[in-house]
Amino acid sequence: MGPWIYFLSLSLSFLLFLAQSEPSIYDHLQRNGLPIGLLPKGVTDYSLDPSTGEFRINLTQPCNAKFENLLHYDFNVSGHLSLGKIGNLSGMSQQELFIWLPVKGIRVDVPSSGVIYFDVGVADKQFSSSLFENPIECNAADLDVELLNLQGLEIFRKRSDKLAFEDHQGGVLRAVS
Ligand SMILES: *[C@@H]1O[C@H](CO)[C@@H](O)[C@H](O)[C@H]1NC(C)=O
Ligand SMILES: *[C@@H]1O[C@H](CO)[C@@H](O)[C@H](O)[C@H]1NC(C)=O
Ligand SMILES: *[C@@H]1O[C@H](CO)[C@@H](O)[C@H](O)[C@H]1NC(C)=O
Repeated sequence: MGPWIYFLSLSLSFLLFLAQSEPSIYDHLQRNGLPIGLLPKGVTDYSLDPSTGEFRINLTQPCNAKFENLLHYDFNVSGHLSLGKIGNLSGMSQQELFIWLPVKGIRVDVPSSGVIYFDVGVADKQFSSSLFENPIECNAADLDVELLNLQGLEIFRKRSDKLAFEDHQGGVLRAVS
């Protein structure tokens, strides 16, 4: 029995060693108090500078994931990871009505209040952090976010033309849906 036990415990130690020496990007999110579902499932190609918190991720494809709103991930996502916070974020956008807004930062309260804040430039957008508990499947999106934004603006423009038109006709400004 001796050699077997020895072999098993050696393999086990080796596996534990591997598990400890190769944390995933999800482990890093977790250590910083952030929900791991902020990133889509299956991210393996990442780098993180432990001294600065700068990280970089290569996805296999740009993709979209549906939470309360639609989130878009570029090929490359990068940012600055610190306790309860991702700063200088690039490569993530969030759909708001027809417009894709770049998410410039993400933060949670420490200790957690169950709320997560997305910095989308004009204001912080709040979500329940439980939405991001688990990494979810992200669907291929070769959508060009810039192009989508142009289309979105076009729809806005048409809507406001219609608003202006109605205003001119009836003297009453009302929302058209
Ligand atoms: C991402 O891809 C680039 C180019 O292929 C490569 O240089 C880099 O090491 C990859 N990984 C990360 C984490 O940036
Ligand atoms: C972004 O990711 C793609 C695919 O993984 C890679 O080919 C490209 O070089 C990356 N760009 C940078 C700046 O890392
Ligand atoms: C912010 O991220 C960009 C890449 O997206 C990088 O070029 C720049 O140096 C970063 N700025 C800071 C202050 O880390």
